[in-house]
Amino acid sequence: MDMKKMAGDKAAEYVKDGMVVGLGTGSTAYHMVNAIGERVKNGLKIQAIPTSKATEAQARELGIPLLTIDEVDHVDLDIDGVDEIDPQFNAIKGGGGALYREKVVATLAKEVIWIMDESKLVDHIGAFHLPVEIAQYGSKQAMARMEEYGWKPVLRVRDGKTFVTDNGNYIADLHLGAGFDIEDVREKLGTIVGVLEHGLFLNMCKRMIVGTSSEGVRVIE
Ligand code: A5P
Repeated sequence: MDMKKMAGDKAAEYVKDGMVVGLGTGSTAYHMVNAIGERVKNGLKIQAIPTSKATEAQARELGIPLLTIDEVDHVDLDIDGVDEIDPQFNAIKGGGGALYREKVVATLAKEVIWIMDESKLVDHIGAFHLPVEIAQYGSKQAMARMEEYGWKPVLRVRDGKTFVTDNGNYIADLHLGAGFDIEDVREKLGTIVGVLEHGLFLNMCKRMIVGTSSEGVRVIE
């Protein structure tokens, strides 16, 4: 079976009646949302908060009852994908550009589960680019600051156009290299005007669900 589907299906089992559930974004989360949709059809009673317009459309199609972010006062469980994660549960997210909404929902959640295929497990994060959401106004100045720090920022482009997030902002992808100083980058990002959020999700989860080729689905706690 597809490793991402294995992880998504397993994670859906953690959803219980009455929960407010954060629905992540991306190709792994896609399977989890489908599996939850199936359970809702079979009588599961939940409310959900999607982390992107794409996930919102998918969940709506499946008949999963949705809340808007302003209607949410708590999230019981958030389930989402990652781009890379190290053994200390430090993750990079935002490959799909949904990092801002993903972080808003994850920080509200009492419990977070990251789901992935085994390729996402690394010793040190940073080989994958670190996405940073920046305001359009002043984006050149923000990019220049990141360049000065030596982070090799690249403004994200899709289909020949500057990529615009669900929130109307740009994404700068930083090329830091595996083993970069996480605390240093996190702190400096906080000083740059125009940086709205970044894709460092540090030690936020207590459970990872990993689809593997040799051992089936692994739950790491
Ligand atoms: C979306 O912005 C991302 O944070 C995704 O959750 C992350 O990129 C994982 O995506 P895949 O499951 O598609 O690899």
